[in-house]
Amino acid sequence: MARAGHRGQARYVNAVLRRLAGAPPAWPDPERDPVGWATTRGSHPAWIVEDALARLGPQQLVALVEADNARPEVSLRATPGRTTRDELLAELAEAGLAARPSPLSPDCVTLERGDPGALAAVREGRAVVQDAASALIAPAVGASPGDLVADLAAGPGGKAGHLAALGARVLAVERNRRRARLVADTASRLGVADRLHTVVADGRRPPLRPGQADAALVDAPCTNLGSLRRRPEARWRHGPDDVAGLVELQLALVEAAADAVRPGGTVLYSVCTWTTAETEEVVAELLRRRDDLRLDETRQLWPHRNGADGMFLAQLFKVR
Ligand SMILES: C[S@@+](CC[C@H](N)C(=O)[O-])C[C@H]1O[C@@H](n2cnc3c(N)ncnc32)[C@H](O)[C@@H]1O
Repeated sequence: MARAGHRGQARYVNAVLRRLAGAPPAWPDPERDPVGWATTRGSHPAWIVEDALARLGPQQLVALVEADNARPEVSLRATPGRTTRDELLAELAEAGLAARPSPLSPDCVTLERGDPGALAAVREGRAVVQDAASALIAPAVGASPGDLVADLAAGPGGKAGHLAALGARVLAVERNRRRARLVADTASRLGVADRLHTVVADGRRPPLRPGQADAALVDAPCTNLGSLRRRPEARWRHGPDDVAGLVELQLALVEAAADAVRPGGTVLYSVCTWTTAETEEVVAELLRRRDDLRLDETRQLWPHRNGADGMFLAQLFKVR
C-alpha cells in the first residue's frame, strides 16, 4: 500500500498494485491467435515464430512451440562395440530405471527419469547422453571401418566419438581449444582414442590434402532452434541478423569438406535447426557453386513430429 507523496499519486499506485495482484493476464487463444500466443505464452521471439509459421502453418506452429517448451526426456545412445541397445535396456531395468527404446534411432533409449551421470554405463563410456536425432548423423556418413573421416566442427565430440566407435579413423577439427579438449575426453571415455585424433584448427582450412579423406562431416554452428527443449535460452542467443553470417560459415565449412573428400566419398552436412536459410538454401547454394557434388538425400526432423531435436541432414556424394 503506497502512502507517501501526493494523495492522487498514492491512489494511482495502489490501483496499479491491485491490478497486478489480481487476475493473471489473459493469454491469447492459440487457436484464434497462434502467433500472439506463441510470442507471449509460448515465449518464442517473433522472428522464430514468423519463420516457423511460414514453414509449418498455424496448427503445427502451436505444436512446435508446445514441444519446444515441454520437459525434455534423457536420451542415451549405446556405444557401438561396447554395448547394444537391448543390453543397455536390461542394465537400466536392473538398476530400477524405467526406459524405452527410441522409435527414431535403433541405438537409443529414452530414460523417463534418473540422473544419467550416476549410471555406470555412462561413466564407463558404454553409453553416452545423445539425442536420438543426433544419433542418426554418424551412421548417415556411411563410412566403412578403417575409413578416414574428417569432422570439421567436432566439439564436444558426440558425433566424432560415435564415428570412431563405428570403426572409422576420425580427424576431429575444432576451433575452440576448450571444446577440442572435450573431444579428446570423449575419445578416452569411449575407448577410441587410438582412432580419434583431435586438432585445434579452423575447419575452413583443415590440415588435410585435397581428396585425402574418405568422408567428411560438417555438423555446423547454427541458430540451434532445433534444441530448444534442452537449451531453452538458445532462442534468445541469436537474432535474425545472425543468420547470414552463420550461413556463410556453414557454406565455407562444407566447401572445405568437399575439397578434403576423395571422389566417390560422402559429405554429410547437418545442423540442429530448421530455418530454410540454414538448411534447404545452404544445400541449394552449395549445389549451385559445385558441380563435383550430388545430393543423395535430405531429412528434416522436428521436436513435435519426431519427439527429438529438430536436426537437418543432407547426404552429399563427391562425384569427381
Ligand atoms: C554444432 S557444434 C558441433 C557438435 C558436435 N558435432 C557434436 O556432436 O558434439 C559446432 C562446433 O563447431 C565449432 N566451430 C565453429 N566454427 C568453427 C570453425 N571455423 N572451425 C572449426 N570448428 C568450428 C564450434 O566451436 C562448435 O564446437
